[in-house]
Amino acid sequence: MNTNPYKPYIATVEDTWFETLGDRCIKTFKVVLDDEELRYNWSHLPGQCAIIGVLGIGESMISISCSPTEGKFLRFSVMRTGKVTKALHELEKGDKMTVRGPYGNNFPVDEWKGKNIITIGGGIGQAPLRPIIEYVKANRDDYGSLNIIYGARTSADLCFKREFEDMGSSGDVSCNLSIDIKEEEWPHYVGFVPSLLMDVNPSPENAIAITCGPPVMINFVLQNLKKLNFADKQIYTTLENRMKCGFGKCGRCNAGNLYVCKDGPVFCYETLKSVPEAFA
Ligand SMILES: Cc1cc2nc3c(=O)[nH]c(=O)nc-3n(C[C@H](O)[C@H](O)[C@H](O)COP(=O)(O)OP(=O)(O)OC[C@H]3O[C@@H](n4cnc5c(N)ncnc54)[C@H](O)[C@@H]3O)c2cc1C
Ligand code: FES
Repeated sequence: MNTNPYKPYIATVEDTWFETLGDRCIKTFKVVLDDEELRYNWSHLPGQCAIIGVLGIGESMISISCSPTEGKFLRFSVMRTGKVTKALHELEKGDKMTVRGPYGNNFPVDEWKGKNIITIGGGIGQAPLRPIIEYVKANRDDYGSLNIIYGARTSADLCFKREFEDMGSSGDVSCNLSIDIKEEEWPHYVGFVPSLLMDVNPSPENAIAITCGPPVMINFVLQNLKKLNFADKQIYTTLENRMKCGFGKCGRCNAGNLYVCKDGPVFCYETLKSVPEAFA
């Protein structure tokens, strides 16, 4: 639907809230494209991104953190790190932002029909995994079990906490949370995400595992998935290498011979295993 990928669309912040607080706090924005036709024609799938920005300041590549099944709006969960993300954090309900996209490939959610889905996330890395969870929940009969494994440093650093609390674990949906450091009254696991994965011990049979988080976490998660006998083709991840052009021209985002902007950001481990720079 986007004939000119350089053209930003104007969107309005419909709602916004903090997921986490502190120096590198994370704020979620629910936004709607102002142009009604563009809004209704917009289509994306889990894993895709958009370039969002503040006029006069700049733009950043951000994962779309909602599933298209949720409605005719977009969600972005943004960690405050530098110039653009600080300006985005200043936006409140009713303010305008720019949106370009959608960019990149998506998780092959259609190919995964009939499979058991396991998401393994850490920190802000849960943002691109959230749309998979919502997509599977909205198309429940098309998928097997849904196993969510998610951790952060402390309970205050967990994104989408309220959603996980509401979801809980029942029937064939299981929600497994962890924090790195012990806290009073924390009822869930204490330890790093790769250890939680081993504790949950998901079966590789008819399963797909998708992981996103800090590179060090992804490295250990991959090692543990191999210990659990997951085949390379059953494992997916999404990379967040720094980007500039977004179109495979500047060479900023490459990992080995792969361009994250052009070939990704979603990759099957079968492709990535021969690219050691991918998780550096
Ligand atoms: C495909 C993709 C998806 C992304 N999804 C999200 C998301 O859902 N939520 C989110 O908060 N961020 C996401 N990012 C990262 C986001 O694009 C950057 O944090 C943002 O562009 C920083 O811009 P800035 O001007 O605020 O900071 P800058 O001033 O450019 O940088 C501030 C600090 O952040 C570091 N930084 C910048 N970009 C990255 C990066 N890509 N990876 C690691 N460190 C970086 C810099 O080294 C510097 O230390 C994604 C990036 C990519 C490529
Ligand atoms: S961002 Fe320029 S080549 Fe990928």
